[in-house]
Amino acid sequence: MDRSAESLLSGLHEVARSPLEEAFTIPPAIYSSPEIHALEARRIFATDWLCPGLAADIPNPGDYITYTINDQPIFVIRGKDGGIRSFSNVCLHRMMTLVEGSGNCGRITCPYHGWTYDTEGRVIGAGHMGHRDPEFDKKGYRLPELRTEIWHGWIYVTLNQDATPVSKLLAELDPQVARYGLGDYVSVARQDHVWKTNWKLLTENFMEGYHLPVAHKATVGAWMPIDSVGFPEKVYDAFTWQTFTKEENAKYGRAHPNNTRLEGEWRYTTVMPTVFPSHMYVLAPDHMWYLSLRPKGVDEVHVRFGLALAPEVNEALGDTRPQWLAGVIAFFDKVNAEDKFVVEGIAVGSRAPLAKPGPLSWLEREVHDFARYLDRRLNGPATGLIREAAE
Ligand code: FES
Ligand SMILES: [Fe+2]
Repeated sequence: MDRSAESLLSGLHEVARSPLEEAFTIPPAIYSSPEIHALEARRIFATDWLCPGLAADIPNPGDYITYTINDQPIFVIRGKDGGIRSFSNVCLHRMMTLVEGSGNCGRITCPYHGWTYDTEGRVIGAGHMGHRDPEFDKKGYRLPELRTEIWHGWIYVTLNQDATPVSKLLAELDPQVARYGLGDYVSVARQDHVWKTNWKLLTENFMEGYHLPVAHKATVGAWMPIDSVGFPEKVYDAFTWQTFTKEENAKYGRAHPNNTRLEGEWRYTTVMPTVFPSHMYVLAPDHMWYLSLRPKGVDEVHVRFGLALAPEVNEALGDTRPQWLAGVIAFFDKVNAEDKFVVEGIAVGSRAPLAKPGPLSWLEREVHDFARYLDRRLNGPATGLIREAAE
């Protein structure tokens, strides 16, 4: 590692160990350093749990979605037995990508030479292989399977065989999420975009409410009393969150009258968890929207955006559903456009020779939590997959 990357890591460490009242943002060049990017690939994205979407995105046997972990394409599929599994999306014959996007298939057929796989990754067909000696036995071929866990309706995957199980890792987040019944929310949209920013800038942006009344004044910013923002007392290794309430004039974010799960202030309280490194969501009594990020080099990010509705909201829509959904999706498209504008702006700013770390507000507590997470992963001991020769 060269001297400039070492000095960025020591600058990160300095920020991480300072108390919030004295904290600044992390060194600007950390967002554009190729060495830091390579280190993140090993120590963060090959190590921690990542979220390709909701189990509700693949409700039927054969439904699949695709994703990537660094250079590893994967697909997540619901099997004939109803179980959700993830596999390397790379053919065992000559490495063709097997499936793209999302869809449904009873079996997976490679578009190159037609090898076929069942929903549990086993080769079930491979033509013209009869000449081999010893005899070709397709039973010996199965796609590498990734660890996959479902937590409150979320799918999490990891390449790390040693990763702590999600249920244990997120145990202290559970009480924040459980009351909403997220596992029953109905998935209504999922989109993939590429934005011109570093993934960390977008993660930080999503976590803090400081920008809401300004950058989102035309949308969600208008309904959020900033004094209602609350944070956990502790600092956790794998996640952080904040809560806030929605005022009565809020178009979205308050419980539907038919919601019998939530009581008192929880009927208008939203929780916003971030599961490190890059899965963050706004979980409201009536809807949930999320981002799942993957770096695309240092200056671009793959953004997966999704939206789901509380079941009673979805049921009450009746015939108005198509129109209502078009309206809510257009609304969140607008919120996303507001965020895209600022996170692409700060990506440019972070490369400016005169850019310097800035002081954090109390509302940016989670930005500081994120710096501490980055410090643990990038400066801390290597774990899991990354105990490899590359280190
Ligand atoms: S690469 Fe898939 S069948 Fe040849
Ligand atoms: Fe935002």
